[in-house]
Amino acid sequence: MKVTSTPSTSTTVAHNAVPPPSASSTARSSRIAPHSHIKGLGLTAEGLAASDGAGFVGQANAREACGVVVELVKTRKFSGRALLLVGAPGTGKTALALAISHELGAKVPFCPMVGSEVYSTEVKKTEVLAEAFRRAIGLRIKETKEVYEGEVTELTPTEAENPLSGYGKTVSHVIVGLKTVRGTKQLRLDPTIYEAILKEKIVVGDVIYIEQNTGAVKRVGRSDAYASSYDLESETYVPLPKGDVHKRKELVQDVTLGDLDAANARPQGGQDIMSVMGSLVKSGRTEVTDKLRREVNKVVKGYVDQGVAEVVPGVVFIDEVHMLDIECYTYLNSLLESPMAPTVVLATNRGHATVRGTTDIIAPHGIPVDLLDRCVIVKTDGYSRDQIGKVVQLRANTEGLKFGPGVVERFAEEGEKSSMRYALQLLTPAAILADIAGRSQIEAEDINEMGELFIDAKTSAAMIGPDGGFIGGNSF
Ligand SMILES: Nc1ncnc2c1ncn2[C@@H]1O[C@H](COP(=O)(O)OP(=O)(O)OP(=O)(O)O)[C@@H](O)[C@H]1O
Ligand SMILES: [Mg+2]
Repeated sequence: MKVTSTPSTSTTVAHNAVPPPSASSTARSSRIAPHSHIKGLGLTAEGLAASDGAGFVGQANAREACGVVVELVKTRKFSGRALLLVGAPGTGKTALALAISHELGAKVPFCPMVGSEVYSTEVKKTEVLAEAFRRAIGLRIKETKEVYEGEVTELTPTEAENPLSGYGKTVSHVIVGLKTVRGTKQLRLDPTIYEAILKEKIVVGDVIYIEQNTGAVKRVGRSDAYASSYDLESETYVPLPKGDVHKRKELVQDVTLGDLDAANARPQGGQDIMSVMGSLVKSGRTEVTDKLRREVNKVVKGYVDQGVAEVVPGVVFIDEVHMLDIECYTYLNSLLESPMAPTVVLATNRGHATVRGTTDIIAPHGIPVDLLDRCVIVKTDGYSRDQIGKVVQLRANTEGLKFGPGVVERFAEEGEKSSMRYALQLLTPAAILADIAGRSQIEAEDINEMGELFIDAKTSAAMIGPDGGFIGGNSF
């Protein structure tokens, strides 16, 4: 096996040798997820898919179809309906669902799960599904509160001798100066509020508001007078608030029905030792009873009628939906028909398959026909060699890998021969081989060498004989 181009055996580097620390490997500490190059569906304003966009390559029909679904979800016309993504493994079904969640934005709840998550020893299957559906229904609560809002101009804690313990000092009060367009105000605040200020990591120049009744402190962002010229940073800049420092402000809070259920399901209990012990022992997941859900619904309905809250139906995404069994499917049907149902996106790569939990029902995609009938189905297509090359290039850019000449074509060829996933999986080992050989970019020879080291699923399957098995290291 050829490892490096150096002829002498003594200098041959073993495959398991630790690669020398390189600048790129230490600089990139965050893990890159398989879909981190996907930023959205990449559609034009008219909803048409450009051939490549937002990290997506090809797959125009499926992307446009998902774009329509996003529009319907945003205009709240798709609640209680289901979209089913079908297609061969590795054709971007999971990626499409993630792109939908990107397009919907952070304000619409998106609850992803995998079909097999329903099999828990602690909670019933149907309960897991019901919980996911509840987590996908958002509630936007609007309240008008008296607040002090402004840009922090001064933050001075005043210390005093602690009368109880001899050492150290405590903060007796804190002086906070707030500035708005119209004026400034100096507030003298309680030490507990100072703790909240420390927790929110507030410094001079931030825009904050303090609720008058509760003393809750919230950081809105950094005042744009302090905006820097960086192109990319995590800070959000906000303008200097208008009006007076002390004013009535409409605050918006986003929660989901799932959050409300969970908060009410865990009884607060008393302060006595037994209830504290009890809550420690009962650390497993708790089931929320239907009765509690009805109660929560009633309260929510009251809020909605008063105009305090607004219901925001979101999206439940069930990946590998063929893992659900017949009981889950019938429950899913009934959930879809309930009045407060979110949009459901399902994905599967199965063709004709037995429905799990039955012995004789064979259905398309392993999904019973009655549920299938309620779905709009979108098919993902396979990729051409060119498209595989483009995806490999995209991944290489996200992972910070460099290619020599002709390498993308070699990867695309491998991908076409086996699958796109296989080509993507080869990226990191190829980078390691290049590193071992002392190169900063991947060359075609690294990929050739990988052909000797690894085999793809198709080759492996072909190597297993008709009886299926291995004896003494040989397949037979
Ligand atoms: N059109 C595309 N553009 C860019 N990247 C893609 C595209 N399609 C797939 N990918 C990437 O290829 C990899 C495999 O895709 P994905 O996991 O979405 O496949 P899948 O259809 O969900 O497969 P499975 O049925 O096995 O779950 C992912 O890293 C994904 O981001
Ligand atoms: Mg998938």
